[in-house]
Amino acid sequence: MERDAKIYGDLTQVLVTREEIHEAVKALGKRITEDYQGKEPMLIGILKGAVVFYSDLIREIDLPLRTDFMAVSSYGSATKTTGVVKVLKDLDRDITGMDILIVEDIVDSGVTLNYLKTALSNRGARSIRIVTLLDKPARRRVDLKADYYCFQIPDEFVVGYGLDYDEKYRNLPDIGVLSPKVYGAE
Ligand code: IMP
Ligand code: MG
Repeated sequence: MERDAKIYGDLTQVLVTREEIHEAVKALGKRITEDYQGKEPMLIGILKGAVVFYSDLIREIDLPLRTDFMAVSSYGSATKTTGVVKVLKDLDRDITGMDILIVEDIVDSGVTLNYLKTALSNRGARSIRIVTLLDKPARRRVDLKADYYCFQIPDEFVVGYGLDYDEKYRNLPDIGVLSPKVYGAE
């Protein structure tokens, strides 16, 4: 923990440890493997927050899966979304007839995934399910349910294991609550 001491000082608490994450990701990979027997799902990772989770998850899924990525941005300040979504990087391939799993870091208001789910179903996917590492149900602004999640968390701004504040903290192996002193009185 010595090497992490400086950034760990920006957290008020560690919410989910690396060991808990590892166990949950392993269990989730097993569930997806069972649920998609006989299928070749396409896992779409949402850049950049989901990359750490995504890379661990695909190695726990024992299926002939395919991979692709999208980057979207929701306008707003660093800790709050406004509801407007813009596609910054689209998929490389056509997804007609495919079983899609959208892999996200966190479902907060649900606005980003609600937009993505509609946009991808309009492209003729056979099925679309949502996989998220974290779910913050208290903050939902649209009617959206994650089909698979690892942890439900309270209404706190969290960082680590891919999640950022101002592009920092993605490399923390654990997930922690960011101290409000870091983002001021926003
Ligand atoms: P939504 O559209 O409000 O569900 O927001 C989803 C996106 O907001 C996520 O993909 C994250 O990039 C970001 N986000 C929401 N809550 C947090 C948080 O607690 N920490 C870091 N990023 C977050
Ligand atoms: Mg982010």
